[in-house]
Amino acid sequence: MKKQGFLALVLIAVGGLSVSLEAAEVSRAALLGYSCAGCHGTNGNSKGPATPSLAGVSRDYFIDAMQEYKTGERASTIMGRIARGYSREDIEQLADFFSRQKFIPAPGQQFDPALARKGARLHDKYCEKCHADGGSSSEDDAGILAGQWTPYLRYTLSDIMAGKSHAPKKMKKRLKKLHEKAGDAGIEQLIHYYASKR
Ligand code: HEC
Ligand code: HEC
Repeated sequence: MKKQGFLALVLIAVGGLSVSLEAAEVSRAALLGYSCAGCHGTNGNSKGPATPSLAGVSRDYFIDAMQEYKTGERASTIMGRIARGYSREDIEQLADFFSRQKFIPAPGQQFDPALARKGARLHDKYCEKCHADGGSSSEDDAGILAGQWTPYLRYTLSDIMAGKSHAPKKMKKRLKKLHEKAGDAGIEQLIHYYASKR
């Protein structure tokens, strides 16, 4: 065989090897992800209503959330126990997997259009800065709010306001201000707004 032909063969072989290694990595992440599917749904779109969807959240947000569940900085009913079973490396692979899935807005959530309109104004004033595109962007590393299950959002917000879950100081300040001005009704308006985003 000519030298060039041999080289081409070697390159093809090496190329093939790296493709199959990549496939193995992906399927290990998917396999880890299946143990979450019972609650978070296939590919991270939860059937709700108290379990959030994970699909499409940012990698950094996902890793932080899992670490905070481990240390107890984030209030939880079950994730604290579950997160402790996963190493940092597992968590990074899970983050790769879920951040690549497509987020599907929670189906069939009821909302009142008038309340949603008020919620939209509150969101723009107090939240949009870090939860861009009406809370649907994942690029702020701050979680997806638009189309998320609202019972989950409701108790998460109340945990944050009660200081049981971590959130940036600036967010707590904004949330407090909103609550002082608009009360519990204001929080409800926000929830209706996020439910209206489909
Ligand atoms: C038994 C049901 C259950 C299983 C299994 C489960 N989760 Fe959860 N997960 C929840 C619930 C409920 C919450 C809300 C926090 C809480 O109450 O624990 C949550 C919250 C989360 C969040 C925070 C989402 C956000 O928007 O902030 C992440 C990340 C997460 N889970 C990852 C995982 C991963 C990864 C697995 C699999 C290794 C997993 N979960 C398995 C029920 C579950
Ligand atoms: C200064 C930036 C900032 C502002 C302003 C802000 N947030 Fe956040 N928010 C964040 C970050 C960052 C996180 C992720 C926190 C963490 O997990 O530690 C977060 C997390 C959340 C979560 C939890 C998401 C989940 O899936 O568990 C909710 C709900 C939320 N924010 C709602 C709001 C609302 C409503 C407002 C407006 C009143 C608001 N935020 C304003 C930065 C901000």
